[in-house]
Amino acid sequence: MELPHAFSKEEREAVYRAISQRRDIRRFRSDPIAPEVINNILRAGACAPSVGYMQPTNFILIQNGDTRRAIHQEFVKANDAAVGMFPPERQDSYAKLKLEGILDSYLNICVTCDRSRFGPVVLGRTAQPDMDIYSTVCAVQNLWLAARAEGVGMGWVSIITIEALQRILKLPEHVLPVAYLCVGHTDAFAPVPELKTLGWLPEIPPDELVFYDHWGNMAPEKA
Ligand SMILES: Cc1cc2nc3c(=O)[nH]c(=O)nc-3n(C[C@H](O)[C@H](O)[C@H](O)COP(=O)(O)O)c2cc1C
Repeated sequence: MELPHAFSKEEREAVYRAISQRRDIRRFRSDPIAPEVINNILRAGACAPSVGYMQPTNFILIQNGDTRRAIHQEFVKANDAAVGMFPPERQDSYAKLKLEGILDSYLNICVTCDRSRFGPVVLGRTAQPDMDIYSTVCAVQNLWLAARAEGVGMGWVSIITIEALQRILKLPEHVLPVAYLCVGHTDAFAPVPELKTLGWLPEIPPDELVFYDHWGNMAPEKA
């Protein structure tokens, strides 16, 4: 039986398809994305939930070559530093991973969180002040799912310091860069995460992620 507010079967399948077939894309073609498609994706980001309706998120669209090259240099620095943090036997495989598409994608987007929007006291942030950042992360996921539905690739690059992003993008002190995204057309959306295919980390079976009543309890307790 369908619940009264449920989407139709086809609509539900489309939603779940976008969720399960979304991928982090790092290989791009450089051909342009139509402005209305970019607009659809940005609108999806802007209508994400936010703590107390704070709407702390902005989207900085970056196409300028100099800016991108500066960001890319910072990625290279941070990525070189990252190699040495892994155990020696993993360093070669890490170094071979393609972890960004900053220069080859059509568009970069920095998604930011204005931590001071609407003042110091915001409904829902009183006990957990980082809820504004989580709100911005919700916006990122909306962008990612909308991009997948539009057939546009999107990849998140987090191997850049916050300080570098703040400096290059001229962010005021109260604005945190939450996500740096590469966006563009791609030739393929892999059926499963690349890091799984490459054996970097295994998939945790979804059922093992669910606990009942308290941490670690794998089976529901009798009432
Ligand atoms: C917060 C966050 C940061 C990420 N940073 C990077 C990154 O710097 N480089 C990269 O290649 N992938 C990055 N990813 C993508 C993940 O590696 C990817 O989501 C994961 O391997 C699962 O693959 P899938 O997104 O294709 O399903 C990031 C993902 C998230 C959610």
